[in-house]
Amino acid sequence: MNQYASVDTAPAVPVLADLRSDTVTAPDAAMRAVMADAAVGDDVYGEDPTVTRLEETLAERLGKEAGLFLTSGTQSNLVGLLSHCARGEEILVGRGYHVYKYEAAGASVLGGIALDPLAVAEDGALEARAVTAAIKDDDSHHAITRLLCLENTHNGHAVSLDRCRAAADAARAAGLSVHLDGARFFNAVEALGCAEQDLAGIVDTVSICLSKGLGAPVGSVLVGPRDLIDRARRWRKMLGGGTRQSGILAAAGLHALDHNVMRLSEDRARAERLGQTLSQFGTVDQATNMIFFTPDGGVTPALQQHMAAHGVTLSGATGTTRLVLHKDVTEAGLTAATDGFRSFFGG
Ligand SMILES: Cc1ncc(COP(=O)(O)O)c(C=O)c1O
Repeated sequence: MNQYASVDTAPAVPVLADLRSDTVTAPDAAMRAVMADAAVGDDVYGEDPTVTRLEETLAERLGKEAGLFLTSGTQSNLVGLLSHCARGEEILVGRGYHVYKYEAAGASVLGGIALDPLAVAEDGALEARAVTAAIKDDDSHHAITRLLCLENTHNGHAVSLDRCRAAADAARAAGLSVHLDGARFFNAVEALGCAEQDLAGIVDTVSICLSKGLGAPVGSVLVGPRDLIDRARRWRKMLGGGTRQSGILAAAGLHALDHNVMRLSEDRARAERLGQTLSQFGTVDQATNMIFFTPDGGVTPALQQHMAAHGVTLSGATGTTRLVLHKDVTEAGLTAATDGFRSFFGG
């Protein structure tokens, strides 16, 4: 079963706006051209100049010593967690965060690491006092609390620097390290209006996805201290994630950093506009490029079919549906979505 798989509402018209996720973005012609021209080598030998350039670029931008290219956000988080923690150690993480809920408990399965899930506040943050309260005493009954894992953005919410810092400070006071699942790091930075290093500087390691709103087909980069990234490289190899002429993929990531970070504000603006329309027809929680929409009558197959007929793909939820704006949703796609919702709800 795959909760994100397309719903069974084969559209009679071409898809104008796939709103299920920003992971559906496809590489455009310019990105494909740089991929075709990428200089490559064997990256397991450390000889792919394009992969090295991507790793160094992101590490430098975020003010970290080193970076490591990985195949996915899940692999990047997993390798990060395995590099921070040993067997019998524990990670504090938000109950609704991706690392806890949607990564198949990889750190526990493969690393013998315990995950202690904490309540997530409405703004997506973990409360500093909850972090402090969850840190275990030095007692042989307990796992050894080693790491705090944050997420930003969470469900689209850009968690403020102050809130991130408060949670991180509480962890650091007890000797923990801090990892940030920054799958949508640049959406957070854009919405907060801060410098990239302001957010990255709060934590020790960050995993960044290139294949969500940034539009690359594959890839994530983990950045952090050099000794940790050296350990992460070994874990990546062990997990079968060492790749060879992957410069062809890293080139897409570099292109995305140069061209698609600066346009994330458009996605937020479009999400705001669509959110305003939808608020006439139900409850809306909109932040950065995401909208969680609960229509007054719930999400029904009839709504999904109606939207599909307008060229708009919605995820197959029942109560609340998540709509995500991204670079492959054009003005025409946004208009199709707005018209479709209006005609369905009679607005
Ligand atoms: C917050 C967050 N972290 C991590 C991931 C994992 O990324 P991937 O699907 O590339 O493994 C996702 C995926 O959607 C995500 O939303």
